[in-house]
Amino acid sequence: MSIDAPVVTPTAATLRARAAVAQARAFAEADERALDGLVSVRPRSAVPRPQPVWDDAEVLVHEPVGERYRRLVLASNTIAATAQAGQFLMITVPPHGGDTILLPRPMAIHRRRPATTDHPGTVELIYGVVGRGTRALAAVPVGGTLQVTGPLGRGFGFPPGTRSALLIGRGVGVCGVMGAAEDAAAAGIRTTMVLSGQHPDQLLGRSDCAELGVQVIGATDDDGSSDLTFLATRLRGHFDGTTPERTPPGVIMVCGAGVLARLAAELGAHWGVPVQASLEAHMACGLGYCHGCAAPVRTDPSVEGPLVCADGPVFDAAIPVV
Ligand SMILES: Cc1cc2nc3c(=O)[nH]c(=O)nc-3n(C[C@H](O)[C@H](O)[C@H](O)COP(=O)(O)OP(=O)(O)OC[C@H]3O[C@@H](n4cnc5c(N)ncnc54)[C@H](O)[C@@H]3O)c2cc1C
Ligand code: FES
Repeated sequence: MSIDAPVVTPTAATLRARAAVAQARAFAEADERALDGLVSVRPRSAVPRPQPVWDDAEVLVHEPVGERYRRLVLASNTIAATAQAGQFLMITVPPHGGDTILLPRPMAIHRRRPATTDHPGTVELIYGVVGRGTRALAAVPVGGTLQVTGPLGRGFGFPPGTRSALLIGRGVGVCGVMGAAEDAAAAGIRTTMVLSGQHPDQLLGRSDCAELGVQVIGATDDDGSSDLTFLATRLRGHFDGTTPERTPPGVIMVCGAGVLARLAAELGAHWGVPVQASLEAHMACGLGYCHGCAAPVRTDPSVEGPLVCADGPVFDAAIPVV
């Protein structure tokens, strides 16, 4: 006699969740493949080493940005005055609802506003609530304090004489490149930024770009405009050299996806301009101690490889010569 196992039919919600996990895995694998052989550590002379401080930063603003993200403005005179474009903070997240978050979480510095006589220096972050740490972070009230270490990492730098730049950011990756838009605005560098995301209402950085005089090219999954082939064609057309405004950019800076870093490197090769790409990795310390954030840079196996936190997060990106 055989006993049949009961047939369990997955619910629609379960099927959707499985599909989302499969899609996320496929994106992650594509990103990993895209970075293969693409990035290298920027020369030491190109970027100064960070001088991080440990600070108890007051939370001045903490509010939702659309349905998916939250904006956090922290008071820190030193970090606001010293942070370079593309650097990040490690945030110690206080315990929440009986949950203790042991490791600090890395977050890009989206905006820097040095102190004036009227207000303290501030740094602004935008983050998505994706897991335990960011859920607990979302509960920190305005008026509370957060322990932060930063600014960390080696950021973006404009090559001398740069007159125009193309910045590309996807999702919260926009925060990784917005500091470069701030520097470009201050230096009179004409800047175009691709803001990429799933839906139009999830495109971060529109108001920052308006404030900084940055021309925006929106690219969303909804209407297919974030498709890499479509975007590449659009950008080549946008910078076709037919007018001074359409002259190809002098540098490309990108953050938010490995596939976008590769697209940027292909455009860089087409126009003959340098490309800098900011990468993400799981980080436990952010300081170069734990060696948990190996950068996808091929090295001699007997030599200690570069780290995303200490040698990046910004790397040079170029299509490998075969
Ligand atoms: C240099 C740097 C800058 C960053 N800047 C921002 C930012 O500006 N805004 C923002 O929202 N996020 C940013 N991140 C990612 C952010 O650190 C993670 O989303 C956060 O640590 C997740 O913590 P959690 O405890 O909520 O999630 P966990 O519970 O730790 O993880 C939840 C999910 O997120 C994934 N995840 C966690 N950490 C990372 C990571 N470092 N990279 C990729 N996937 C991750 C996990 O695999 C898991 O699927 C940055 C990461 C780095 C390394
Ligand atoms: S996160 Fe510890 S070495 Fe990079």
